[in-house]
Parts: sequence; C-alpha cells; structure tokens
Amino acid sequence: MEFRHLGRSGLMVSEISYGNWITHGSQVEEDAAFACVRAALDVGITTFDTADVYAGTRAEDVLGRALEGERREGLEIFTKVYWPTGPGRNDRGLSRKHIMESINGSLRRLRTDYVDLYQAHRYDHSTPLEETMEAFADVVHSGKALYIGVSEWKASEIREAHRLARELRIPLVSNQPQYSMLWRVIESEVVPTSEELGIGQIVWSPIAQGVLSGKYLPGQPPPAGSRATDEKSGASFISRFMTDEVLTRVQRLKPLAEQAGLSMAQLAVAWVLQNPNVSSAIVGATRPEQVHDNVKATGVKLDAELLKAIDEIIDPIVERDPARTESPAERP
Ligand SMILES: NC(=O)c1ccc[n+]([C@@H]2O[C@H](COP(=O)([O-])OP(=O)(O)OC[C@H]3O[C@@H](n4cnc5c(N)ncnc54)[C@H](OP(=O)(O)O)[C@@H]3O)[C@@H](O)[C@H]2O)c1
Repeated sequence: MEFRHLGRSGLMVSEISYGNWITHGSQVEEDAAFACVRAALDVGITTFDTADVYAGTRAEDVLGRALEGERREGLEIFTKVYWPTGPGRNDRGLSRKHIMESINGSLRRLRTDYVDLYQAHRYDHSTPLEETMEAFADVVHSGKALYIGVSEWKASEIREAHRLARELRIPLVSNQPQYSMLWRVIESEVVPTSEELGIGQIVWSPIAQGVLSGKYLPGQPPPAGSRATDEKSGASFISRFMTDEVLTRVQRLKPLAEQAGLSMAQLAVAWVLQNPNVSSAIVGATRPEQVHDNVKATGVKLDAELLKAIDEIIDPIVERDPARTESPAERP
C-alpha cells in the first residue's frame, strides 16, 4: 500500500481507503462486513470512512466493532455529519446543536475517543457557515476530531470555509466528492481551488458503485447479490449508471484494462489516483475478494496513451458539469 498526505496536512492516509456506505448494517451480513474490514487491514489499508447516517447509524457501530482491538494510532478513522440521524428537526444539518450531539454519538458507536477527520457531509444552507465552523472548532479543540473536512462542497463554499478555518485556527484539509472516469465534475473548479488552498480530495465511488468493474452487461439482468439488486437503497443509487449506453461503452474498456495487465476495477481505482489532488480513493466492498482485487491499483501508473484511449471510448457518457456539485437547497 502506498500512502499520501491528506491535502497539505502532515496526516498520511492510505491511498486506497475502505468505506462502508450501503454495505455495513444493511446490504451485507455482519460476518461479511467483518471479513471485508479484516481484508482491508491485511492488505495495508489504514484509512476507514463512514458516516453517522449510514444504515441509520448502524454502519458506524459495525465499523467500530470490526476495528476493536486494533492499535488506534495505526488507523485513520473518518466520519461525517449532516444527513438526518433521527426524527427531530434538529437531528440533521450543521447547526451547533446537531454537530455537538452527533460527534458524541459517532464516537460512542465507533468506540473511540476521537476521529481523525470529521466531515460536513453536505453544505447546510439553513445554518450560518460561521456557526458551523465555530462548532467544528470546538470539536477540534476538545480533542474529539483532529482534522476537519467537507463533502460535495462547491469551490466557493470551500474557499469561504477555509478562510474561517484559518481564523479559528483549525485544519480544514479535505473535500470528499464523487469522482470516477464517468463523473468528473470536480475537475474544472473544485480541484484548482483545492490545490491552491492545500485541500486534498478523498474520492467516493471510484468504481462507479461497481459499474466500472465491468460486471454489469447491457441488456442482461444484474448479477445476483450485486448493488444493482439491493432494493433497500443500492439499486436506486446505482441506477444513474445503469443505462445501455453506459454499460456498452464500459465493456469497450475491457481490452484496454487487459493490455495494461489490470482488472477493470483496478483500472478504475488507478485512474482516480493519477490525479495528484486526490489523497485517497475510498472503495466499497461486499466481499474480501473485491478488496484484494481493488487494492492492486495502488502505485499503478497509467500512461498518457492509455488515458487518451479511455477518453475516446467514454467521452459521450462522462459528466463534467461543475454545477452537479450541489447540496440540498433545504435541510433534508
Ligand atoms: N460523501 C458522500 O456523500 C459519499 C457518498 C457515497 C459514498 N461515499 C463513501 O465512498 C465509499 C465508497 O463508495 P462506493 O461503495 O459507492 O464505491 P465503489 O468502490 O465505487 O463501489 C463499491 C461497490 O462496488 C462493488 N465492487 C467493488 N469492488 C468490486 C470488484 N473488484 N469487482 C466487482 N464489484 C466490485 C461492490 O458492490 P456489490 O458487490 O454489491 O456489487 C462494492 O460495494 C462509501 O463506502 C463511503 O465511505 C461517500
């Protein structure tokens, strides 16, 4: 496993990290969840990403138990706050009240005294940014989080938060956007701003939720047990990629992956890691074999000719519009 700095901070993270959205506490049974975390640790992944909202807070609990007994200093544990964690109107968003309550719940479920990175899961248009950043500053100053990050924030939002973070003397070091060969909306605005400010990207769904593994065939039913068959939530999230045009063009990448000596999933993960502003690619997995497959993308260099050939195949299906970086206009 290779390691990178998280943005311009001194914190090192594994360039491939493991995340448990949709899987833990929901799509997969607990023994499979534990086996995937074990596989991640065994292949040298030290960075784990979750969120208070995943599986109605159960995902943090599963991850906390799966990591119990590991040396805490050898891990980087990331979680997030914003999406609803309860029925109340204050069980959501980035108010001081919800941030202070949610960090305590996350630490309890994760069975740790602190998280390495605490992330604003979206921008909250109903809370003054000053209130949010002051609450984050108190979380950091009380030792409950070491670094602060955001997720799916626009370049202008990142810039303003960074200015406040400097005033408050807290380290805002990362953004967590969706990024893959198929979803490149951060490239024109978020990445240049982040590079200037020393913020690193921790990118999600680098395999486009499994689509870039090439296992979904156009005109065929999805393989049994795959995310596209998960009625609880996976199927609706992956549906944006499940069109014949996308699946047909993705199949055309297979010979390129073979020529490069990579599996399709490895090619997808290696592709996002070619961007120097990416600090880590968060992969999900329902089985340990997927972790073993994906991790081989670490340290892989893709040459310019291969990158060009990929672009020629998928250009019509790539989303690049920076306006697709967005948070709900109102709190969910
Ligand atoms: N900040 C945010 O708003 C946000 C949003 C989404 C995700 N995230 C983070 O990003 C993490 C990763 O997201 P993701 O799970 O969508 O990422 P992903 O790595 O693109 O997709 C993971 C899924 O693809 C399938 N898969 C993985 N490796 C495979 C392989 N080698 N061969 C075949 N299928 C494979 C598995 O699903 P099946 O086996 O079920 O097909 C797996 O659960 C999340 O856990 C979370 O930590 C953050």
